[in-house]
Amino acid sequence: MAFTNEEKRSYLQEQNQQARLGGGEARIKRQHDQGKYTALERIEKLLDPNSFIEFDKFVKHNCTSFGMEKTQYLGDGVITGIGKINGKQVALFSQDFTCWGGALGMAYAKKICKIMDFAIENKIPVIGINDSGGARIQEGVESLAGYAEIFHRNVQASGVIPQISLIMGPCAGGAVYSPAMTDFIFMVDKTSYMFVTGPEVVKTVTHEEVTKDELGGASTHNEKSGVAHFLCSDEDDCLERARELLSFLPSGNFTKITQEKNNDSINRENSKLKDFVPVNSKKPYDMKEIIMEIVDNNHFLESQKDFAKNIICGFARVGGYKVGIVANQPAILAGCLDIDSSTKAARFVRFCDAFNIPLLTLVDVPGFLPGTTQEYGGIIRHGAKLLYAFSEATVPMITLITRKAYGGAYDVMASKHIDADINLAYPTGEIAVMGADGAVNIIFRNELKGLEGDAFDKKKAELVENYEKEFANPYKAAALGYVDEVIYPEQTRTKIAQYLDFLKNKDVQRPNRKHGNIPL
Ligand code: HXC
Repeated sequence: MAFTNEEKRSYLQEQNQQARLGGGEARIKRQHDQGKYTALERIEKLLDPNSFIEFDKFVKHNCTSFGMEKTQYLGDGVITGIGKINGKQVALFSQDFTCWGGALGMAYAKKICKIMDFAIENKIPVIGINDSGGARIQEGVESLAGYAEIFHRNVQASGVIPQISLIMGPCAGGAVYSPAMTDFIFMVDKTSYMFVTGPEVVKTVTHEEVTKDELGGASTHNEKSGVAHFLCSDEDDCLERARELLSFLPSGNFTKITQEKNNDSINRENSKLKDFVPVNSKKPYDMKEIIMEIVDNNHFLESQKDFAKNIICGFARVGGYKVGIVANQPAILAGCLDIDSSTKAARFVRFCDAFNIPLLTLVDVPGFLPGTTQEYGGIIRHGAKLLYAFSEATVPMITLITRKAYGGAYDVMASKHIDADINLAYPTGEIAVMGADGAVNIIFRNELKGLEGDAFDKKKAELVENYEKEFANPYKAAALGYVDEVIYPEQTRTKIAQYLDFLKNKDVQRPNRKHGNIPL
């Protein structure tokens, strides 16, 4: 006998209810007891209310090994779909740890691939909520194949749509490499982990004893390895900050630069900055204070805040225009460029360039960090990444030299010569091959030879003073047109907003090529 419409509807309702349960109530309780939300709860908290549309809710795996045919969860352990964040369309997937520890099999991978294809074709950001024990062991090579298909799509999507990963549980093996290829990684303190192999394997192979937290916890990846970009105190904080990041990102590449009006006037004077940069060029100051002063409503979202702190990268708006800010931090290591700061900033610059976000570069840099650790570590190769990234960028670029711009680092930090559009300097700007002390020791070696004691000190001081008069200012560069304007610090915000408005339609094409060969 055929089923009635009523019976068919109630079957659908039953299946929908079943799908909500994932791996069952006991495992949901375990998830909650660990301070974690379920896969569906995370989606509901991340998206605008009632905006979620789920795909593939009834997908099941075909695996028959190890008795797997007896365990079937509707949706196969990952929830996928589309929705909105602050009105902006996104695609997303959320791994369900209550089903086989979120481990990935072929049906599960196909669901993720489908949602990624949807995102790429429709030019909307894709967000992955990761909570997974890696490849589903029972599915063998099929789960490896599934991962590879996702990795391949991560690469196809790179530079086309923003890709964001939220790590919200233990992510091992294959579960870390897809996030690693996305643009931004959020981690939750004490409940999220990323490692290629866990502590047990480490102990067997290298005999190192290390806890899960030390090996791959949120602090490790935000402070030491630089794998993660945002360290969040709990899951609510993580979901809230992901929404905040989304507000700074366009939906895809080739979007036009637009202005979003707000209540912070571009004519607001930065009176705090009038005498902010210390006269003594050896004295540190906090570059973040300059950033906070000039951006709209003091809203600055810093990326990789706890890694390579000698450079600052993050998003803000000036005069309603979104900008990516890259700034040397003279308060840490005197703001010099080293391996970590170069790679951190290079990746950030390339993200902004790929997604048409103008770059604002603030410069106070004494040069590259010298020493064997840096040279053996490949500072030449890594420093070249930042030089490459700024040089290939075609987005509007505004550079402001607040104080030092010495040596190769002057060239690297979005100088006029590598195609920045507008180069500004404060009256405190110093642009030279090197600082006065080092320069005098080299070029006046003969004059200083044979002098001792007071005579040496007096002569050296005189030579340093002359050098500083000659070079410790922005006017030589301004005379050559390498600096377009020397500005009063209190006018910084106004100037930047004005220039951004003129640059918004910038259109520069580079020679046609398959791709460049950035030093890796
Ligand atoms: C199948 C898995 C699984 C996996 C966990 N489970 N990992 N099932 N395949 N990879 C299951 C468990 O059997 C358990 O099932 C449930 O998930 C929860 O796991 P627990 O161990 O109880 O949870 P917890 O103590 O929180 O530990 C989580 C964990 C741990 C750290 C993720 O489970 C773990 O170390 N798993 C293995 C990680 C791993 O080595 N993965 C393979 C990586 S190789 P029940 O039924 O009890 O709920 C890989 C290759 C891809 O990914 C490479 C591509 C480049």
